[in-house]
Amino acid sequence: MIVLDQENKIFTLHTLNTTYQMKADQYNVLLHTYYGTKIDNCDLSGLIQCGGRSFSPNPNEAGSNRDYSLDIMPQEYSTCGVGDFRVPSIEFELPEGSHTADLRYESYRLEKGKYALEGLPAFFGIEDEAETLVVYLKDSAAQVLVELYYSVFETFDLITRAVRVVNQGSEPVRLCRCASLCLDFLRSDLDMITFNGHHLMERCLDRGPLRSGIQSVGSVRGTSSHQHNPFVMLCDRDADEDTGICYGVMLLYSGNFEAAVECSQYENSRLVMGIHPYHFCWTLEAGGVFTAPEAAMVCSPNGFGQMSRQYHRAICEHLLRDPYHGKYKPVLVNNWEATYFDFTADRLVDIAREAAALGIELFVMDDGWFGTRNDDNSGLGDWKVNLEKLPGGLEALVPRIRELGMKFGIWIEPEMVNEDSDLYRAHPDWVLQVPGRAPSRGRGQLVLDFSRRDVRDYIYDQIRAVLMSADISYIKWDMNRSLTDVWSASLPAGRQGEVYHRYVLGVYDLLERLHCDYPHILIEGCCGGGGRFDGGMLYYTPQIWCSDDTDAIDRLHIQYGTSFCYPVCTMGAHVSAVPNEQNGRITPLKTRGITAMSGAFGYEMDLGKCTAEEKTEIRCQVEQYKTYYDLLHHGDYYRLTSPLKDSSYTAWEQVSPDQREALVNVILGTTHAAPPFRCLRLKGLNPAFQYQINGTGSPQSGEVLMKAGYPVPQIQGDYPAFQIYLKAM
Ligand code: DGJ
Repeated sequence: MIVLDQENKIFTLHTLNTTYQMKADQYNVLLHTYYGTKIDNCDLSGLIQCGGRSFSPNPNEAGSNRDYSLDIMPQEYSTCGVGDFRVPSIEFELPEGSHTADLRYESYRLEKGKYALEGLPAFFGIEDEAETLVVYLKDSAAQVLVELYYSVFETFDLITRAVRVVNQGSEPVRLCRCASLCLDFLRSDLDMITFNGHHLMERCLDRGPLRSGIQSVGSVRGTSSHQHNPFVMLCDRDADEDTGICYGVMLLYSGNFEAAVECSQYENSRLVMGIHPYHFCWTLEAGGVFTAPEAAMVCSPNGFGQMSRQYHRAICEHLLRDPYHGKYKPVLVNNWEATYFDFTADRLVDIAREAAALGIELFVMDDGWFGTRNDDNSGLGDWKVNLEKLPGGLEALVPRIRELGMKFGIWIEPEMVNEDSDLYRAHPDWVLQVPGRAPSRGRGQLVLDFSRRDVRDYIYDQIRAVLMSADISYIKWDMNRSLTDVWSASLPAGRQGEVYHRYVLGVYDLLERLHCDYPHILIEGCCGGGGRFDGGMLYYTPQIWCSDDTDAIDRLHIQYGTSFCYPVCTMGAHVSAVPNEQNGRITPLKTRGITAMSGAFGYEMDLGKCTAEEKTEIRCQVEQYKTYYDLLHHGDYYRLTSPLKDSSYTAWEQVSPDQREALVNVILGTTHAAPPFRCLRLKGLNPAFQYQINGTGSPQSGEVLMKAGYPVPQIQGDYPAFQIYLKAM
């Protein structure tokens, strides 16, 4: 609910459990007065204390009042060069060369439903699902209007934000920074939590206290990156899964980003998040508009678990445009780790036949089917079937897969080109490269200039021809290098600072075209695994390959970190062969199955090489996944232990919304003789319900299972795993 106090210019945004407030003060500076646990309507600006502080200047209209300074007051959208020395949200260069921005409140607008952002991903919601407030700020000297957008999804504790900047003057303005969100706190005794890593080990949780100065994470790789995720948290120093206040901020953006937290001189703190200012400069012609990507905040007064569950629900209901929404999603088999580039049509059909016999429903043909792609040095850009490998093309292959009762999916990497390709030979100027400088390669490939419409149109026509040639139900959209040599032949020197962002807009444009033209096709995002796992991509690709690391134990860390923001159904997770291809570890098949089931489930191995016993187990796993599908994908997610803290076991749980069913997943660590006896305390159950465990034995009350726990069975061997299914009687 959005409550307005027009007389005092106070805007209060209430969700189920939280309140967010801002107020335009006597000088029309928009102050941020509160974000936290729900408080009934009142003016919270009294929390802000002013007092003279040397070297904190006073705005001109404050006259002799030295107590008033932008430098010490919490700002809703921080400015620069006029008295607030903390991290700015906006910075622009005016024709005369100044870099000051001074924003004052002008007016507001209130609407039913959720705003949309042209060309950018955003949460969606119809009239009775969300409410929108737009607050207009203006820099009168610069003739720049800034529109702050807020949408409230009440039951999800979700507030989305976006920013539009309009040049109302008659001269161009150069926008050098335009954050999506600024969040000021009257305290700095907070921990910052970020999700970091590298290729093969993404989104590992890192937590530490705020310290004086600026702490930041971000990416200048052109993608949101394996290294840092555009989702960050701030929380009480003692907050945990169930207690303490915590704030999550998710940026729906898939390119360069920065999340910077400044802990300032008077122990306040500020989070500013948005497009990374590195090599960003957008020219706004007279009348021009720039839209910053959306940010989505969830505050939980009751620890991380509640925050995650709210994000999960909101993402599933209001961000994913999944052709399988509300329906069962097929289990897939992907041939990558089974064959790499070395396959024939018969080999693929053999893998599919084995898979179909085990209940697997979708066959995905990975890299290597097109052009001269027999290794990763050639072929990218030539999206035509390699007829030597696949005689008769997809027209011959796909019916053979369909005859097995399976759907067919295909891998593409549209943003890239190899120098050894017909496309590059015809259009060497279509890649990102700086004049006079030979471009860096990554995985032996160059990056197509997706900021250009003509390049995108060409690629789209090729992909469309492939999609038209056969019955295709799924696409894996891959992207296998970071951007370098970012310069576009289509833009003048003064506009090269737009290329990184225009590239991302180009990717979104092509994905949107695919979504509109082929709404029945499920698109899985991928960037060498999870190098572009973000809310922006999820809008177009409702599931994303979580990591190229398929080892079940490494995956515990990756999926644990990922779960803080993103729901189970978005995380591509496959059972692969052992010893694991990435780290050589041997884990039981059951362990691999249980780990992958808490994801968009599939297999990535040569099933023909499995023993009869293994095949029986896989058939059971697939059946199990189907049986528990609703719980796994639509249940409320509870992290019971952290793989970072307790190496003896990692456990998580899914509980049905009515609390009548739950699935507990436990993966034990390396084995020791005579291990201690442990009890695992469950969460989210109804204390008054009696639950039958795995369909047998005397029932246990929810109260006992949550307060006293469930005795963890002792199983021998390394990394054993088990699931417990609870059903209320
Ligand atoms: C990287 C992906 O993450 C893998 O799953 C696979 O598709 C390869 N690319 C293919 O080149």
